[in-house]
This record gives sequence, C-alpha cells and structure tokens, in this order.
Amino acid sequence: MRTPKRTSKTTAKKTGPRSAAPPTLLARLNARVTLDVQPDGSIAAHVDDYSEPLGTFSVAIAERARDLRDGLPLPSVPPESDAVARDIERLIRQLALRGLVEYRLRDERAADDLVVIEPQLPGYWPRMPTLSDATTVVLSRFAYLRRRGGEMVLESPRAGALFRICDPRIATLLAVLAAPQTISQIRRREDYPGPAILALLRDCDILVSIDPAKHDAPRRAEGDDGLVQWDFHDLLFHTRSTEGRQANPLGGLYPHTGLIAPLPAVRPAWPGRIVGLPEVDGSPSSFEELLHSRQSTRDFDDDKPITLVELSRLLHSVARVRSKWSSQLEFVDDGPDIEYTGRPYPGAGSAYELELYLTVANCDGLARGFYHYDAAAHALAAIDAHPHQVEAMLQSAEFAMDASASPQVLITIAARFGRISWKYSAIAYALILKDVGVLTQTLYMMATDLGLGGCAIGTTNIDLFAKMTGLDFHVEGPVGQFALGRGLATPASR
Ligand SMILES: Cc1cc2nc3c(=O)[nH]c(=O)nc-3n(C[C@H](O)[C@H](O)[C@H](O)COP(=O)(O)O)c2cc1C
Repeated sequence: MRTPKRTSKTTAKKTGPRSAAPPTLLARLNARVTLDVQPDGSIAAHVDDYSEPLGTFSVAIAERARDLRDGLPLPSVPPESDAVARDIERLIRQLALRGLVEYRLRDERAADDLVVIEPQLPGYWPRMPTLSDATTVVLSRFAYLRRRGGEMVLESPRAGALFRICDPRIATLLAVLAAPQTISQIRRREDYPGPAILALLRDCDILVSIDPAKHDAPRRAEGDDGLVQWDFHDLLFHTRSTEGRQANPLGGLYPHTGLIAPLPAVRPAWPGRIVGLPEVDGSPSSFEELLHSRQSTRDFDDDKPITLVELSRLLHSVARVRSKWSSQLEFVDDGPDIEYTGRPYPGAGSAYELELYLTVANCDGLARGFYHYDAAAHALAAIDAHPHQVEAMLQSAEFAMDASASPQVLITIAARFGRISWKYSAIAYALILKDVGVLTQTLYMMATDLGLGGCAIGTTNIDLFAKMTGLDFHVEGPVGQFALGRGLATPASR
C-alpha cells in the first residue's frame, strides 16, 4: 500500500485534512479534583471532602502538575533517562488509579477536542494498539451513542471508558463504521480523524477487529461464546446497575429530592366498589410464624460466630442439588440433551444458573477466605483470593448496610449467564434477577428458621468479583448479595 506524500495543502486535503497534524492525547484533572502541591514535592488530590496522598515528586513535576488543570500531554513510553517524563507518568497513573483524570484527544489544527475520554474502570489507561491498513474494523454491537445533558456520549458496557464526542465528524465516522471497513478505507475519507481515535476505540472494544471472510463475523468476533449469547440491553443493564465497570453515582442518593414529591408508602385505594375480605382468625401456622418473624439483621455478634455446622445446614436446605436428569431439547428434531437439576427453590426454566460464593470473615470451624459452594457435592471449594480483596468485599457489604462491622459470612449470588441466555432471548437478565429474588427470600427464611440473621444487599461489585475469581465479567458474575451471621441480640429479643 502506497502512502500518499503530503507535499502540498491540496494533497493533505485528499488524504484527510487532519492527518497533517496528529492529535495529541492530554490527561486532565476531573473538574471536582484539585491538587495540593507541597514545597517538599508531596502531592495530594482533593475531591469533595477527602484528600488522597499521591506520593512525593521532583520540584519540576510539582510545577508541571498545575498544567493538569487544562491537560498535560500523556508521555509516550518515556525513556529510562527521562526522569521528568517518567515522574509525570507516575503522577498521572496515581490519579488514574483513583479515577481522578480524564483524557482529551485534541485536534492541534483546529485547536479543539475531538473526544474527551472518561474512564469507567478503575485504573483505565488509554492505549493505542497499531492498526495496519489491512485490518478490518466494525463498531461493536454493544456500543451506543446517546445525549447526556448537552453532550453526545459514546458508550459500551464492554469499554473501560466512555467517549464524549466533541467533533460531529466523529459521529459521522461512527455511522460509517456500522458496516465493516478496512483501516485504509477509513484513511481515504475526507473526515479521517487520524489513527489515534481508531486505536483508542479499538482498545476499548468499541471497535472490534474482524475477519470479513468468516460467515457471521461481526457477532462472533466480539469475543467468546459467553459474550455472543448476551443481548445488548441485558449486558448494558448488568454493567449499569452494578458497581465496578462504570463511574456513575449509584445507590440511595435520593436524586429527585426537592424536585418531585415522594410517592406514598401505600397506594391510594381505587375508587368504586370495595369488597371487604373476611377477618383471618385461628392461630397462625408454623410457616406463617416463621414468615412473620423474618426481619433484616445487619449487626452480628462476633463473640458468637455462626458455626460451620449451621452454615452447612443453611446451604443444604436452601441450595443443594436434590435431583438431576437430562432431556432432549423440546421443539427441535435431534436437539441436544440438556442437563437439569432440581433444587429447593423455584428457578426459571429449571436452569439454576445461580451460584453461591462465600466471603467468610468469622465462622467457627471455617477459615477466613473466599469459597464457592458446590451445590452437587455439598462442599466448599476454597478460591485463592487476595486478602485485601476479601476485605474489600466485606467492607462494601458493611457500608451498604450502614453496619458497625462486616457480616460473619457474605454470600454473593453469581449467575452463569450463558446457562440461561442459551435459551431465553430478551428476557434472560430479567429472569436472572427474578431468580435472585426467589433465592434471597429462601435464604432469609432458612436463616430465620436456624435462629440466624441475614440481610439482602442491593449493590455488588462485578469488577472485584472478576478479579477474585479470574472469570470474565460477562461469563459469570455477581447479581445479588446476602449478609449472614448470628445477629446481635436486640433489646426486644433478649
Ligand atoms: C433486593 C433487596 C435489596 C436490599 N438491599 C439492602 C441494602 O443494600 N442494605 C440494607 O441495609 N438493606 C437492604 N435490604 C433490606 C431491606 O432494607 C429490608 O428488607 C427492608 O427495610 C424491610 O425490612 P425487613 O427485611 O427487616 O422486614 C434489601 C432488601 C432487598 C429485598
């Protein structure tokens, strides 16, 4: 492939007006962040009410750190000898680890931004893989453009960052990339924005490389079988309603306070004819009593931890495989045999895609650590997670419950997504969440029956779980959590 020479303004225009001056990638502090630079070179980042020490740097760095307000060019692999460039990279990486920077891809000719990159994964670092002219790329089927306030953002549940589209020509290019294009085809376009943006999008899996000769290439080229089976809205819902792969505020933040009045706790009665129901008399059944004695327990008695025998009983009663069979796929001639199990709680399609993972803090007879419950063997498999990950898991549960200490055992309910999406289109993730509700109530009931305490937890960190298990977030991941232990005796229950 011949590279056209850029000898005159006319030829420069032919090869793409912006190819003459490659865009620059700059790291910029997030708007909410200020840097506190001390005379001894120590630098701390201030965000809202808290301060994060970033380390001690040379005086030259302290000076340059101020430029991070507008943007500092990202050093490209600084040589060993260039101490200043390496120190700048160290400072930017410290900020990146804490999610305190964004990146501007600046069009030097137009003195304007092409895109601004907002990291979504902790530690996101923009990388620019080399894309040869012959490489064919296409927009991921998980990527989407939407309006956010007065901006247009390009996102994907697979991406480590989102892209604020500042130059409308990028949006045009994205539309073109709905169909596979070779890099050389893109380079010949009038609006070619240079290789950096394509490389950054490829790095985030917003663009995927495909082999155009392969049948059905775009969908299969996205990744493994696990990814192929996800519907667009399901993967988006999963990543946007959990922690770990997004930087948006999440949880009980009361975002509509002062703008919209809260709905009443009880729905106003329908007008019209009312049918009174007969009073319920007679003594309650033992099940009713159990049902009505259930309550959420957030604080646990660490002097009397749950025992391994109690934990075993709970897992056996709630989740153990009770039967196994296989049957041929309905409605299809020569369909494969599919394996099924029966378990104590009902599950959509008898798929039983939910798995229990235990983060154990304080259990009499079981070492602190991370375990998987093997529901067929009724055994725990120890998973070699790092102690600080175990601690992070427990702390986030403590935080979610606003509790005074971590739960004795944190049960993370994870889904093997492919087990259910292999069968169900469009409703797979909704079914998983419904199954989580069913299992959660079963856990509540059995914990109550055993004289233990428990509490459902509405948040879960899918990135932390992926790190602890080594499993890709789209293959198997957390969809619910339940804190468990022996509850602290409340004054009423004493
Ligand atoms: C899906 C779900 C998510 C929940 N998430 C939390 C949570 O994150 N933190 C918490 O303290 N309680 C959580 N709870 C517990 C509820 O706050 C509790 O069930 C509710 O206040 C009613 O109280 P009770 O369970 O004692 O009857 C959750 C409950 C459910 C069912």
